Amino acid sequence: MPNSFVAGIGMYVPENVFTNADLTKYMDTNDEWIQERTGIQERRYADRTQETTTTMAVEAAKIAIERAGITAQDIDFIVFATLSPDYYFPGCGVLVQRALKMREIGALDIRNQCSGFLYALSVADQFIKSGMYKNILVIGSEKQSFGLDFTTRGRNVSVIFGDGAGAVVLQPTSVQNKGILSTHLHSDGESAEILAMYNPGTHANHWKEEKYASFDDAEIGEMFFSHSMINDAQVFPFMDGPSVFKKAIVKFPEVITESLTANGLTIADLNMLIPHQANLRIAQFVQQKLRLRDDQVFNNIQKYGNTTAASVPIALCEAWQEGKIKEGDLVCLAAFGSGFTWASALIRW
Ligand code: ACO
Repeated sequence: MPNSFVAGIGMYVPENVFTNADLTKYMDTNDEWIQERTGIQERRYADRTQETTTTMAVEAAKIAIERAGITAQDIDFIVFATLSPDYYFPGCGVLVQRALKMREIGALDIRNQCSGFLYALSVADQFIKSGMYKNILVIGSEKQSFGLDFTTRGRNVSVIFGDGAGAVVLQPTSVQNKGILSTHLHSDGESAEILAMYNPGTHANHWKEEKYASFDDAEIGEMFFSHSMINDAQVFPFMDGPSVFKKAIVKFPEVITESLTANGLTIADLNMLIPHQANLRIAQFVQQKLRLRDDQVFNNIQKYGNTTAASVPIALCEAWQEGKIKEGDLVCLAAFGSGFTWASALIRW
């Protein structure tokens, strides 16, 4: 069985820089609070009407495809991870296929939020290993600025997130011990509502005592998206930050160690950890717990905020562009997020 390897990688972030000071124009917050709790100094926001999750993905994909030395016509499968799709349905994969004038290949969308890119990578890896496909485009992209609550009410969530896209092209290699060595995927649905956007949806307040939407006055035909959902601000993401923090700092080290152990390797063998850019404090906690040196961990959340499914490919791309990842290096990608779901991928670059 061949391994899959990253043949090309690309990223795209919008031009529009939004600093912590810019946020204070909309909500009661301040640079000190945001930097102290999250490490974030600024983030990028997509152009409101000219850029979408898919257009950003297409820009990142073009670079990844070019760096892989192929054309869009050579791609034989797309896996697209996002929580902020252009349409509720269909997914963004088909929009990429159309925008890049690709053949009538398969396109799959993944809804795993912060761990979405790693789930996407794992799916693509299995298709390459099985011999089914030879050039898979794997994308993580988010336009989160469209759906955040920019009032003081939503400040604990809104200050954290940013927009952007990252993409890789996976190809098979017969070189021993090169490419993706393993992927590990996990979930714990007990905490599904701790970090979530409940509406619009079909939940009908079925799962919890709490009422996530007021359906009482909704007519048939208004259940999915009712006027009261908007009036009562029930259409924004919810996050119990401290609970996320507590779980993340356990599951990140666990899934990183799991990937190393599965390959008979240790922390000392690791050249670079690319953690999902959830929060700089989480990444620092993980670094400390695993006793990693500064040069073994890459963070860029300071510049881009948390770009959810795009954060791992953006960080991986930037680390590689800065020469911090070289051929033969052992690289671990790890993510934790909504679901909860968490995952890792160990790569011999
Ligand atoms: N600016 C100023 N004050 C704020 C802000 C803000 N943006 N947000 C919240 N506050 C206030 C709160 O209102 C509260 O005030 P009060 O004490 O008067 O009630 C106070 O700050 C503390 O609020 P907490 O929510 O308890 O803040 P906490 O210290 O836990 O920090 C944070 C919040 C940063 C979200 C933290 O819980 C955390 O790091 N959690 C991890 C979650 C995370 O990183 N999520 C990323 C996305 S999920 C993922 O990618 C895995």
